[in-house]
Amino acid sequence: MGAESSSGNRGVGEPPAGVGAAPGEMAQTVGRVRELVRAHSARFERAIPLIASENLLSPYAKELLISDFHSRYAEGLPGERYYEGNEQVDEVETLCLALARRVFRCSFADVRPTSGTVANLAVLKALAEPGDLVGTSRLADGAHISSAAFGAFGLRGVKPVYYAWDPARMTIDVARTREILKAVRPKLCLFGLSLFLFPLPIDELRPTLEEIGAKAWFDAAHVLGLIAGGEFQDPLREGCVVMSASTHKTHPGPQHGILLGDGGDPETVKRLQSGAFPGVTSNHHLNAMAALAVSLAEQVEFGHDYAHQTVANARALAQALHDKGFDVLAPELGFTRSHTIAVRVEKEGGGEPVAKRLADAGIISNKNLLPGDRSPKHPGGVRLGTPEVTRVGMREAEMGRIAELFDDLLHRGRSPAEVAAAAAELKSGFTTLRYCFAAGEAAYRYYDLVGRDPS
Ligand SMILES: Cc1ncc(COP(=O)(O)O)c(C=O)c1O
Repeated sequence: MGAESSSGNRGVGEPPAGVGAAPGEMAQTVGRVRELVRAHSARFERAIPLIASENLLSPYAKELLISDFHSRYAEGLPGERYYEGNEQVDEVETLCLALARRVFRCSFADVRPTSGTVANLAVLKALAEPGDLVGTSRLADGAHISSAAFGAFGLRGVKPVYYAWDPARMTIDVARTREILKAVRPKLCLFGLSLFLFPLPIDELRPTLEEIGAKAWFDAAHVLGLIAGGEFQDPLREGCVVMSASTHKTHPGPQHGILLGDGGDPETVKRLQSGAFPGVTSNHHLNAMAALAVSLAEQVEFGHDYAHQTVANARALAQALHDKGFDVLAPELGFTRSHTIAVRVEKEGGGEPVAKRLADAGIISNKNLLPGDRSPKHPGGVRLGTPEVTRVGMREAEMGRIAELFDDLLHRGRSPAEVAAAAAELKSGFTTLRYCFAAGEAAYRYYDLVGRDPS
């Protein structure tokens, strides 16, 4: 196999012989890209998407992604830009900031980070120096790669101090963590997870954090929509000086990031703002910022119901899977208080084979390391989330049907093709958007602006 064919799909093939293309080649390529993206949309329309970090954008928010805002720059803050032509941008961003402060009941918002990871980098830039100790959870306990040496922590040169974990309760072990914090005295403490089943005990740790003079920082990437809807803990009232987040997981907004804070001292606010810009962004993707404003307005109108049903669905799915004999974590605690559940699938074959088999059957999930797994290369579980199935209108009854599909596929030997057909049948009643303006619009529609491929 030549170098190009063996590695070309990873973007590191041999350099092309020349930049010229055969007649029609690039037009065909454009057609092929469109075809693939259409096929993807059609696939997801038939599928049961259970990725905990994914969601669907409302029609009004989607529209703004292809607006002229996409083509513009606006560095700085509204009214203090480095570019001209930003009057409407300024007004939209001012609205977006006011909506963010209203939804999260706080005095500070910055909507310039372009993703959750970028928001985390802005916090690290603002509140830590290279060499500082920063408290966090281990990846194996559900933390995001932001807090790994090979992620944002490493990039900023800070050293992680790991909290002790209570695997039975799937949360931080308060007593042992107090000891660690008192002994090591990190300057900043990050609370937040990618496998986020239960609220974290920030209130219980607060006296220790105050005693050692550590600032608390909450990464709400996964649970932002639940916090907004009043269905999870409220970190800004529990003493966190800043909350960073993605805006596209349980909050069904565009792919973007956000920083939020309440009552912080002006110096901290200034540091966070300059962490966002010029620290880790130049342009801040104005089209996404406008879509974020729409999604926050929709949050005010529909967000409580959506957050409530998302958590109810997660608990219902967990219970139904448990009833079918699946090893869902934390049964004695009601499995979860968020949008996510974790299922140990060793007896069904392990995280990777199970996630692949589910995908063949039209059920999209991801393999996940669970506490106690012996090798990071062989995750023992799958992570399942309900943000997207809730967004298209599924409720507790459908969670029971999904558990039956799992049982048919993984316990009763039905083929992936048979289960995929049953999954598509179930999904066919749930292909439109809910909890937004213009509810009832097709959730997976491919917006064809031109009507034909180039030729
Ligand atoms: C806890 C946590 N923080 C940060 C991120 C990064 O968010 P983004 O993908 O928007 O960069 C994720 C992503 O899944 C996450 O789970």
